[in-house]
Amino acid sequence: MKKALITGISGQDGSFLTELLLHKGYEVHGIVRRSSTEHRERIAHLEEHDKFILHYGDLSDYVSLMSIVGSVLPDEIYNLAAQSHVGVSFDVAEYTADVDAMGVLRILECVRNAGLTDSCKIYQASTSELYGRVEEKPQSELTPFHPYSPYAVAKQYGYWIVKEYREAYGMFCCNGILFNHESERRGESFVTRKITLAVSRIKKGIQSRLYLGNLSSKRDWGYAKDYVECMWRMLQQDKPDDFVIATGRQHSVREFCERAFHYAGIDLEFTGKGLNEKGIDKNSGRVLVEVDPGLYRPTDVVDLLGNPDKAKQKLNWNPDRTSFDELVRIMVDYDMQMKY
Ligand code: NAP
Ligand code: GDD
Repeated sequence: MKKALITGISGQDGSFLTELLLHKGYEVHGIVRRSSTEHRERIAHLEEHDKFILHYGDLSDYVSLMSIVGSVLPDEIYNLAAQSHVGVSFDVAEYTADVDAMGVLRILECVRNAGLTDSCKIYQASTSELYGRVEEKPQSELTPFHPYSPYAVAKQYGYWIVKEYREAYGMFCCNGILFNHESERRGESFVTRKITLAVSRIKKGIQSRLYLGNLSSKRDWGYAKDYVECMWRMLQQDKPDDFVIATGRQHSVREFCERAFHYAGIDLEFTGKGLNEKGIDKNSGRVLVEVDPGLYRPTDVVDLLGNPDKAKQKLNWNPDRTSFDELVRIMVDYDMQMKY
């Protein structure tokens, strides 16, 4: 039986990956942080499973990580833990660097110090944010990076230290350069979930308006459940390598909004420009979406579109598995059933 250790197990991706690995017969160990309120909704349904084991630790605390890696002796580590909000990284830049950059180094060093250099495979959650102020379109494994936020700069260190340990020590470690992936488990402050939750609340009459930042920003959005399978596939290759995972399709925040409201039976029409742009319900004339300049970022990444050809060829990745419409439908359906 293989043993996997997942950092960030309570997050969106950690929860889907845990389900996948348990299904494959793995013993799954996860690292959770102590918090004054328990917030483990995404993994609560797994806690009775006899091959599901949680450990207290923190990516900023080498001692806790070393103790966990040294006792679990995992065959595979999936390093998903991060301060993952790009906007928030401008407010907590030092902490973001500590966890998203130094945290990766700590994991790699734990593996070496536990004597697992030749046996433990490591997946690092790298990101399309590395392309930042994009230098070509679409973005592939060969596109130069131009990180454009404290989050992306920290993740760039993580990316390179993984490559370095692969070359210096022959470790089996891979970077998954994942483009945005969403789901019904997405954190509520990311734009897609913020929109689908607002659609549900507006339909139920408990929210009157949705405030957003840059409506023209474009993303390559996929479904998180599909993406975690690629993480696992990367570690089953003969040789470690880095892969872009994306759908190869792009939509704006504005389009995501239109599609989500439309699916809930509201046809939105956007009028005006810049800060004066508004999303209006065509039937009632009510303004449902407005721009809040406070939600703009000091530097924003606005044109992400991935080229998933390498993953298609080597990982048998199917970027059409869940369409954009299907993704929006899954999220709106889930949020429409929320009890407030
Ligand atoms: P998420 O839902 O925000 O989950 C982040 C996880 O990291 C949570 O379990 C969180 O624990 C944990 N964490 C945060 N700081 C930690 C620390 N100091 N020590 C230990 N654990 C810590 O993120 P996600 O969407 O699942 O993303 C997973 C990873 O992929 C992240 O590294 C993210 O940067 C990266 N990524 C995500 C996307 C995407 O579109 N989702 C795309 C590319 C890359 P708590 O529950 O205690 O907060
Ligand atoms: N969060 C948020 N809230 N974003 C908004 C809003 C808003 O009200 N209005 C417009 N946006 C724009 C942001 O400026 C950004 O350009 C885009 O919507 C997407 O923002 P997020 O959903 O917060 O995601 P992200 O792309 O910044 O970061 C996510 O994807 C990365 C991969 O590209 C995170 O999951 C990162 O961890 C991940 O690395």
